[in-house]
Amino acid sequence: MLDYKNPNLIIETAEVEPGSIAWRSPSNLAIIKYWGKYGSQLPKNPSLSLTLSSSFTETLLEYSPKQSGDRNISLEFSFHQEPNEPFREKVLKFLESITDIFPFLRQLDLKISTGNSFPHSAGIASSASAMSALALCLCSLEEELFNTLEDDEAFDQKSSFVARLGSGSACRSIFPTAALWGQTGEVEGSSDLYAISMADEVHDIFKDFHDDILIASTAAKRVSSRAGHGLMDNHPFAEARYTDAKRKMHFLLEAMKKGDLEAFGKMAENEALTLHSLMMSSNPSYILLKPNTLEMIERVRRYREESKHPVYFSLDAGPNLHVLYPGEIIHEVRLFVEEELMPLCEEEKYLQDWVGDGPVQV
Ligand code: PMV
Repeated sequence: MLDYKNPNLIIETAEVEPGSIAWRSPSNLAIIKYWGKYGSQLPKNPSLSLTLSSSFTETLLEYSPKQSGDRNISLEFSFHQEPNEPFREKVLKFLESITDIFPFLRQLDLKISTGNSFPHSAGIASSASAMSALALCLCSLEEELFNTLEDDEAFDQKSSFVARLGSGSACRSIFPTAALWGQTGEVEGSSDLYAISMADEVHDIFKDFHDDILIASTAAKRVSSRAGHGLMDNHPFAEARYTDAKRKMHFLLEAMKKGDLEAFGKMAENEALTLHSLMMSSNPSYILLKPNTLEMIERVRRYREESKHPVYFSLDAGPNLHVLYPGEIIHEVRLFVEEELMPLCEEEKYLQDWVGDGPVQV
């Protein structure tokens, strides 16, 4: 099995100049959700996401060869220009777990400065953008030091593989427009180990496509995604869920290829509610939705029925509602969002996001 372990990636410290690398990487929204995993962050079912734009993490990685022979990872870390010990420890643990892939990390003094475009307390999961940005920096560093990643495809694949080890859903953020993660007979080249681009497999309507994120609550989640994945291990509906997700992939791919928004939207809503019903039927059970999330869902459905506009919702592992629609109806939909949904949000907060072109080196 591909694992990217490479003991040869060792530098001659005397020959390496200090340098820096920076990447901006977006978050992504899964339409078919990844919920349940095995082994080292491998998914129990394939998932498919839209790559976002305005919710991103920017990460600067500075490096210089160590003067000492110390083999511990040397890491200085700041988040929004402030030292952040809990985040530093998380990143340090992650870097330590991938020294078989990047053995040269032990030979450098590293300084990571990172920040998100969206407010820290917006209730937006940042692990996908943060872990993909970091993985891209590490692969660029390998490329800079060893010139080993021969083309863009090899670079993206390794970045996606490494991002996955940090946070499963992060592996999908590497690609523009849309990405698929998880082995499926529906798509040649699909893998549990990394995501692949679906940009050329989806209709142009998804290239001008919006996701307004309505902030129902910014309170910290009572149950983390890590714990949620864990609860799938003994979930009474687990096998039915994985079978269902695999079956749905066929229909979602077809709908996205054709630009069939009705079929796409039905699937998006069904998956969002399935994810939350799995949480509600876990043991122990938990609920992340808020009363206002449900009220917003009702209003989106009523608006769709009355206006006949293709406006649908999705949810991540939290109470915030993602409102999805094509760019051609933005003026009408924004009126609806601002008049009918915004007042239901915490401090009337919502974020405007849209499908984008993936990460950029900055
Ligand atoms: O990547 P994780 O381990 O934070 O899990 C994310 C799971 C969902 O966001 C709920 C679904 C998904 O596929 O992104």
